[in-house]
Amino acid sequence: IQELPTPYWFTDKKAAEKLIQPRGKFSHKGTFGHALLLAGSFGKMGAAVLSGRACLRSGVGLLTMHAPVCGYDIIQISSPEAMVSIDKNDRHISQFPDLEPYSAVGIGPGVGQEPVTIALLEELLDQVKVPLIIDADALNILSSNRSLLDKLPPNTILTPHPKEFQRLAGESGDEYERLELARDFAGKYQVIICLKGANTAVILPNGEVHFNSTGNPGMATGGTGDVLTGIITSLLAQKYKPAEAAILGVYQHGLAGDRAAEQKGQIALIASDVVENLGW
Ligand code: APR
Ligand code: MG
Repeated sequence: IQELPTPYWFTDKKAAEKLIQPRGKFSHKGTFGHALLLAGSFGKMGAAVLSGRACLRSGVGLLTMHAPVCGYDIIQISSPEAMVSIDKNDRHISQFPDLEPYSAVGIGPGVGQEPVTIALLEELLDQVKVPLIIDADALNILSSNRSLLDKLPPNTILTPHPKEFQRLAGESGDEYERLELARDFAGKYQVIICLKGANTAVILPNGEVHFNSTGNPGMATGGTGDVLTGIITSLLAQKYKPAEAAILGVYQHGLAGDRAAEQKGQIALIASDVVENLGW
C-alpha cells in the first residue's frame, strides 16, 4: 500500500528545542516584544495574575495587563514587573487600550461573559492587527455569539478544554471524532486549536495535528489553563509564528508541570507551581 503522509506529528524534546529562538548578545527589552493581556474580573483576578506571571516567565520584554478597577492593586502588588492599564468598569473589562504598542494580545482568563465584555471582544476582533490568543470565557463568548467566529483573524490561537470545545464546535462521540471535528473547525475558520487534555493536541489550519509529549494529571487543577495562555501570549509577542508559539508553548507548559509534579507530587500540584517551574 502507498505510504500516505499522515497529518499527525509528535512534539518531543528535540522537536520543541528546535523551535526555541536563541537570544542575541545585544538583545534588549524591545527585542522581546510587548504583550497585552486582557484578563480577570471581580473574584477571578487570580486567572489574570497566573497568566501574567506565566507571560513574564516565558521571556516577553514588556507586559501590560488590562484589568477592571477591582484588579488594579492585586496585579500591581502581585506582579511588579507588569504594567497595568485600567478599565473604567469596576468588575468586568469593557474596553482595551490603544493597540499600537503591543506585539501580541491574549484575552480570556477569568474575564466573565458580561455584555460589556462581549462588546469588547467584538471590537477587539475588528481592530486587532497583531497575533491573538483567545481562551476560557472569551471562548465561551464566541460560542454564544457565533457571528464573531467569522471575525476571527487568520491563525488566531484558541485554547479550549474539552467542554469549551464542545460548546464551540459541537458534540463528538470519542477522541477521534473530536479530533476530526477540531481539524474541520481549524480549516473552516483558519485558526489554530490547542485541544487541551491529557495529550494536548495542537491542530493547524492545514489539518496538521501536533500531539504534545509533556504534562501529567497533576495539571488537572484550576488555573493551569490560564498559565498556558500567558505562555503562548508571551511567545507570540516575541514574534514566534503562531503555530510555533502554540506547539512550543504547550510543550514548555507540560514540561513545567512535570517538574512541578516531581517537586510537589501530582496531588499537591497547583497552577502557581507550573509558573514557578517555567525555565528555558
Ligand atoms: N494530563 C496532562 N495535562 C492535563 C491533564 C492530564 N490528565 N488534565 C488537564 N491537563 C492540562 C490541560 O492540558 C490544560 O493545559 O491542564 C490544563 C487545564 O486547562 P483548563 O481546563 O483551561 O483549566 P483552567 O481554565 O486553568 O482552570 C480550570 O477553569 O475553564 C474553567 O471549567 C474550567 O473549572 C475549570 C477551570
Ligand atoms: Mg481554562
